[in-house]
Amino acid sequence: MEKVAGLISKDTVRWVSSIVQGRLKCLDVRARNEFQKQHIYGSVNIPSASIAGCWFQLPAKQEGFVVLEQDGCYIDDDEGSSCAEQLQLKGWKIEGSIRASTELWQWIEQKGWMEQGENRRVLFDPSPHLKETMPMIEERLNNPEARVLDVGCGSGRDLAWLCSRESKIRYKVTGVDAEKRAIYRFSSLFETLGLKDCIEHRQIAKLDPVGKWKCYNKEGKRDLNIPELSTSELLKLFGTSLATKSGQQDLKYDLVVQIRFLHRLLLTQTDQLLYDNGFLFLCTFVNDGIHNYEYPKGQEHRLELGEAAELVRSSSPAMKILKEEIGFIEDGRPVQVLLAQKQVNAP
Ligand SMILES: C[S@@+](CC[C@H](N)C(=O)[O-])C[C@H]1O[C@@H](n2cnc3c(N)ncnc32)[C@H](O)[C@@H]1O
Repeated sequence: MEKVAGLISKDTVRWVSSIVQGRLKCLDVRARNEFQKQHIYGSVNIPSASIAGCWFQLPAKQEGFVVLEQDGCYIDDDEGSSCAEQLQLKGWKIEGSIRASTELWQWIEQKGWMEQGENRRVLFDPSPHLKETMPMIEERLNNPEARVLDVGCGSGRDLAWLCSRESKIRYKVTGVDAEKRAIYRFSSLFETLGLKDCIEHRQIAKLDPVGKWKCYNKEGKRDLNIPELSTSELLKLFGTSLATKSGQQDLKYDLVVQIRFLHRLLLTQTDQLLYDNGFLFLCTFVNDGIHNYEYPKGQEHRLELGEAAELVRSSSPAMKILKEEIGFIEDGRPVQVLLAQKQVNAP
């Protein structure tokens, strides 16, 4: 064992120890079948040929990580550079590069740090405020399954994180976004992570200022088979397509998330979206009276202090505010973090 360990560089020993302890992220860029055969416990596979379509799956640029690669792994046509070098040139903070070799795998196996099979982890972080709030939500969710709707889901990172982490709850998720590209990314992210079965619906749909949803098909063209819908009609549409599978008609959600998305009218309809005792998690830009920032511009995308809670309460007296805080996203912009619950049977 010592003989093999002697062939591994000190840096590699240090990086791998940190990876298996969960203190350092590792992007393994080898082909999927190589990763499935053997990989370092805790590492995440995005094959080099797919990275160019998956930038959003990488860690934030300020967070260091290591790359595990082997000869012949290139992100684009620049065959002179390793993946680690190419990522560094594109602005990611690369702590180091680990070369796959027979000696490496022998050593990893001897240490008991070898893992096999599909990629089930993610490199990116979800909204830190959602991450912080989920234990509070899960403590109060009583069912083994929970239905989650993300409005303005973007590439689905928060939902994918929710479904990929260890939890007593099995999440069934729906992502809605006005952008065709967002829903495409959402689908490919869940596919890559082997989480396709967690998706209940994905819909390209845009909510207009008067509260009507316009649905679009996969090509991003207006779906003329579906008229403009109110929010409750959109839920009926989702429910009808599930009815054939499970007999479920009255579709609502145990958790609705709206992250860096703001539609005031929708907040006044919160109770329509939730099952009894369901939750709304909101985290979006706010004028906190202290910080000045340029984007997003305009009142349309920024809350005033206390406004979100008032809008949510106006949807029903059953809506109770469990958390109302000002938080900050990575670049320092302030966000309103709100957790509300529809407490129908509260004493
Ligand atoms: C800033 S991104 C946030 C995405 C994601 N929630 C996140 O935090 O990473 C806002 C998303 O809302 C979507 N969006 C904006 N206005 C919308 C509308 N009226 N109806 C539906 N989606 C909308 C955009 O396409 C975009 O993907």
